[in-house]
Amino acid sequence: MRVQVCIIGGGPSGLLLSQLLHLKGVETVVLERQSREYVLGRIRAGVLEHGFADLMREARCGERMDREGEIHHGFFIAHDGVLDRVDLAKHSGGNSVVVYGQTEVTRDLYAGRDRMGGKVVHNAEDVAPHDVNSDSPFVTYRAGDDIVRIDCDYVVGADGFHGVSRKSIPKDVLKEYERLYPFGWLGVLSRTRPVSPELIYCKNERGFALCSLRSQALSRYYIQVPLTDRVEDWPDDKFWAELKRRLPETTARDLITGPSIEKSIAPLRSFVAEPMRYGRLFLAGDAAHIVPPTGARGLNSAASDIYYLYHALIAHYERRDDSGLDAYSQKALARVWKAQRFSWWLTMLLHRFPDHSPYENRLQATELEYLFSSDSALDSLAENYVGLPF
Ligand code: FAD
Ligand code: PHB
Repeated sequence: MRVQVCIIGGGPSGLLLSQLLHLKGVETVVLERQSREYVLGRIRAGVLEHGFADLMREARCGERMDREGEIHHGFFIAHDGVLDRVDLAKHSGGNSVVVYGQTEVTRDLYAGRDRMGGKVVHNAEDVAPHDVNSDSPFVTYRAGDDIVRIDCDYVVGADGFHGVSRKSIPKDVLKEYERLYPFGWLGVLSRTRPVSPELIYCKNERGFALCSLRSQALSRYYIQVPLTDRVEDWPDDKFWAELKRRLPETTARDLITGPSIEKSIAPLRSFVAEPMRYGRLFLAGDAAHIVPPTGARGLNSAASDIYYLYHALIAHYERRDDSGLDAYSQKALARVWKAQRFSWWLTMLLHRFPDHSPYENRLQATELEYLFSSDSALDSLAENYVGLPF
C-alpha cells in the first residue's frame, strides 16, 4: 500500500490530522494498536480551548460538540474554606472554554473518518516506522500472520506517550526532559448531577480535588492520591467520603453521590522530547509531550501540534513550500513549553507536596493570595487556561 502520510496512533491527534488532510485531498492511513471500543472506553480530557473547537469544526466534526458541549466562562478555586471564581471572560478579553469529553471528540472523529471512507486500521500489531531519515520511509505492521508494508512521503507519530514513534528516534538525537510528581489523580465518573455548574479546583491540606463534569447529568471528580495507591484501595464510599472532606462545607453538603461508572488512577508527569521531527517522521501530541492534567492543557497542546503540522503539510502538497515542515518542531515546541510552564505552575499552586517545608507551604499560600488580589495575575491565569494563540 502507498499513501502520502502514514499516521501511527488513532487517538484524537492522529484522527484529527487524518480528517483535516483528507478534506484537502491528501491521502492518509491511521494505524491504531487497539480496538475502537478500547479507545472509546478511555476517559480523559474534558476541557477544550476554542482553537481546538475551531479545528473540530474545520474537520467537519464539530456539529455535536456545538450542540451538546457547554461553553464555560469561568471556574472556581476553593481554598481555606472559600470559593474564589476565576472569570475567564473578564480576564481573557471575552474568551471561554468548551466542556466536551475527549471520548466524545474521538467518537465524532471516528464518525467523520467513516463518513469519508478514511482508512483506519485497528488492532495493528508491532507497528514500526522504517528509514524515516531517508527519502523513502515506510511503516510495517502485523495483521494476524501477515506483515503489511505502507510506503509513504511522511510518517506522523501520534501514538501517545507509550508509542513506538518517539522510541525510533536515535538516542543521540532526542533530548528528553522529565519531571515526576509524587502523587496521582484518582478519577471517578458518575451519572449524577454535578455539584457545581462550573469546575471547582480545590486546594486542601488533605490533598487536591477537582469537581468537573461532562454534562449536567454526568460528573467527573478527581482526588490527589499517593502513587502507591491502587484503584482497588478506593471503593466508591471511601472515595465520596474523602472528596467531601476536601471540598468547602457548603459544596460538600450539595454533593450528590452515586455508583462510579469508571474509576482510574493517572500518575502526574511533565515530559518533553526535542526535536519533534527526525527526517520524515513528525511527532505530535502525547507522543512528544505530557503535562499533569491540572491546567487541562494535554489534549489542547496535541491540537496545536496538529494545527501546525496540518498547515505545514498542506503548504508542501499544495505549493511545494517546505518552510512550515522545516519550522514545525521549533514552532510546536515554543507553544508546548508554555503549556508546560502553566501546567507545572498550577500543579505546584494547588497540590499538597508531602516533602514541602513549612516555608514552601507559606509561599504556596501567598501565591494564591496574590493571585486573587491582582488583576494582572488573574489575566495571566485566564489567558493560559483559555489557550494561547496558535
Ligand atoms: P493518545 O490519546 O494517547 O492516543 C494515542 C493512540 O495511539 C492511542 O489510541 C494508542 O492506543 C495508540 N498507540 C499507542 N502505541 C501504539 C503503537 N505502537 N502502534 C499503534 N498505535 C499505538 N487534556 C486536556 O487538554 N484537557 C483536559 O481536561 C485533560 N484532562 C485529562 C485528564 C486525565 C485523567 C488524563 C489522563 C489526561 C487528560 N488530558 C487532558 C490529556 C489528554 O487526554 C491527552 O493529552 C490526549 O489524549 C493526547 O492525545 P493523543 O492523540 O496525542 O494521544
Ligand atoms: C476533566 O474533566 O477530566 C478535567 C477537567 C479539567 C482538568 C483536568 C481534567 O484540569
